Amino acid sequence: MLSAVGRNRFITPFEGKLPSMGSARGRNGAIKRLRPTALRPFLQGRGHNDRLLPSERVRSRIASAMVYIAANNDGTCPMLSTEQNDLITRIGPGTAAGTLMRRYWQPAALVDELVGNRPVKALRLLGEDLVLFRDDQGRYGLLGRRCPHRGTDLAFGRLEDGGLRCAFHGWLFDVSGQCLETPAEPEGSRLCANIRQTAYPVVEKSGILFAYLGPGEPPAFPHFDCFVAPESHTFAFKGMIDCNWLQSLEVGIDPAHTSFLHRFFHDEEPDKGYGKLFRDKSIDSDLPMTRIMRENPRPQIEVEPTDYGMRIATLRRISEQKTHVRVTNLVFPHAFVIPMSSEMTITQWHVPINDTRHYWYAIFTSFGAPVNKAEMRRQRLELYELPDYIPRKNKSNDYGFDPHEQQHDTFTGMGADINVHDQWACESMGAIQDRTQEHLGQSDKAISAYRRILRQAIEQAGNGGKPLMVLDPTAAASITGPAAIDGIASGEPWQSYWQKTDQTRRKASTWANGHS
Ligand code: FES
Ligand SMILES: [Fe+2]
Repeated sequence: MLSAVGRNRFITPFEGKLPSMGSARGRNGAIKRLRPTALRPFLQGRGHNDRLLPSERVRSRIASAMVYIAANNDGTCPMLSTEQNDLITRIGPGTAAGTLMRRYWQPAALVDELVGNRPVKALRLLGEDLVLFRDDQGRYGLLGRRCPHRGTDLAFGRLEDGGLRCAFHGWLFDVSGQCLETPAEPEGSRLCANIRQTAYPVVEKSGILFAYLGPGEPPAFPHFDCFVAPESHTFAFKGMIDCNWLQSLEVGIDPAHTSFLHRFFHDEEPDKGYGKLFRDKSIDSDLPMTRIMRENPRPQIEVEPTDYGMRIATLRRISEQKTHVRVTNLVFPHAFVIPMSSEMTITQWHVPINDTRHYWYAIFTSFGAPVNKAEMRRQRLELYELPDYIPRKNKSNDYGFDPHEQQHDTFTGMGADINVHDQWACESMGAIQDRTQEHLGQSDKAISAYRRILRQAIEQAGNGGKPLMVLDPTAAASITGPAAIDGIASGEPWQSYWQKTDQTRRKASTWANGHS
């Protein structure tokens, strides 16, 4: 777990375990690793450890890159090395972060993507080529895409007879990957009994199909609001972003950027902002969120470790009496839960397609009225193009950048859709952000804290341990909420304000009563 050491400084318990790897204290008291460049081949999957077993190889790479960057005394954080950056961003099979990611359920598709009379979809997830389908009994299957006979593409298979049948020689596979028929083989052949295609379990939750690509028993789902809310009160959507997954996640836990990247020079009427982020009024006030963000660019940020990841409280002083309190959450390993409006929250995952592309998947959850799904979908389809949910505004058209708009209306000049702003921020950092060149400040403290939790979990997963949020059913039942609040406290401590506001909203809700 995290422990606080001095002001603004967090270390992990294994920080002190690495003297053999070579470490030294820097000028600011920060622990720095002395990193030989010889480590690079390990991280790239080559080098003298190629004879090790896969799990040993992962451990070896983790040990090589587990370099300690404690926070500087002023709360800022030193840059990462290339090895550290590779360690936390690469997610293919056999990589350290890929081993960690495979311990969790991953959003693989929207339920909406498997409608129609041929529910079969090719997809790539964590660098693996897969085919998702729903069989004639309504069961979901997720199989390796290459047919185990001679390697053709099962995404072009025939959906029939209790499974997916390869179009080349008719081999038939069920949702468990078991081969049921090899119809070109001689009568009575038992060949199919010994053939099992790679297959991963799939479950449906609130409009998203989650897949588990890891070893052993999948973890239990936490009892988060987005999973326990009735179908009428949730809406799921997704969008592609053309860069490494970690960039999006780190934008999501960066509470300072909203005052700049999402700044509007004029406020919309809050009651015209249904389904849009920041357009509503803050709870207990008449102030539009956009105005609060615009006028208060230097927030106080408080980061607290929790049993699901981190709670981030962002405090903006409005007056002597009033403080804007925005509570957001990092749900380990790669989701956040934030307030969208006074009645709705967004739970959003950042799911690697491969190392340089990902999807965000979101569940919008309403504590008030049922969600107007048709309107939410209509708004989002203005930007995202089916079937692959690719944004129409993107690098190829400069994200719709208009210098006149930038001067008069918005900070970015890229229109009013906040998703476009975030997409530009993520993608313009490059396919995989070069974190050896960044300079984190105190406003990036949640990002620094997250990277430490991530490295600890990578080490635990590499050692075969149980990282944060790999839950059994009992533990999962105790993980609820989390509270995501945007409101104005008047003469009251922010800590009690958000808790009270969360409870009030739950009590008034038709479904969240009893969930805290
Ligand atoms: S390659 Fe699929 S059945 Fe032959
Ligand atoms: Fe943003």
